[in-house]
Amino acid sequence: MKYKKIIIAIDGYSSTGKSTMAKRLAAEIGYRYIDSGAMYRVVTLCALRNNLIDADGTIDINALNRLLDVIKIDFVVTPNGQRTYLDGEDVEQEIRSMTVADNVSAIAAIPSVRKVLTRLQQDMGRDKGIVMDGRDIGTTVFPDAEMKLFVTATPQTRARRRYKELLEKGMKATLEEVMENILRRDKMDENRKESPLRKADDAIMIDNSLLTLDQQHRHVLNLFHEIARTNDDC
Ligand code: DC
Repeated sequence: MKYKKIIIAIDGYSSTGKSTMAKRLAAEIGYRYIDSGAMYRVVTLCALRNNLIDADGTIDINALNRLLDVIKIDFVVTPNGQRTYLDGEDVEQEIRSMTVADNVSAIAAIPSVRKVLTRLQQDMGRDKGIVMDGRDIGTTVFPDAEMKLFVTATPQTRARRRYKELLEKGMKATLEEVMENILRRDKMDENRKESPLRKADDAIMIDNSLLTLDQQHRHVLNLFHEIARTNDDC
């Protein structure tokens, strides 16, 4: 059976397990995996390190735009998973902190930030053969992606998953804080003017609240086989 090289866009709410789904699918079919949320997190980390976010949440957008012109974001695949780099420094752990999570939706709502990151993401998909997850991949970044998924799960399931993940990484947070952060980010992501989180009309909805990781993987792998299958002999 032959399969054509396609773009797979996976969008959905935070902590729905999009990245777990995307990573496993990409590894199985030999595609490159890109975590677009990590890019928004890197820009947020940069803004925090340069004191561009006031205590009242005001962001110095002009200074941030100047930074966006010069920073370099890279993804490196290692035997222990993908690592995110900012100007050559491994920031994978730091971008997952609650401080970054608390500020990232405000940064992701800035049109100039979205413009720069959307262009970078589109460049990464030029040769297809990628799985990218995020909030606007099927609607804005790759509106013509051949396979689009929209992932959801109940807020309780999502909070429990993110809480467990933070504990495993040795980070401090309470379940209540995690739940509050998830609900606040959902609201901001859904209501922002620029590329709000919404399901693309042609995206396939997957509610994984009651699915095991294996069931979910088999389901998306079957979808890939159906969508990418080609009858070409060449
Ligand atoms: O997937 P994540 O939780 O790491 O994403 C971090 C934030 O980045 C999330 O609150 C919304 C934003 N984001 C976005 O606006 N567009 C994307 N394509 C990916 C993430």
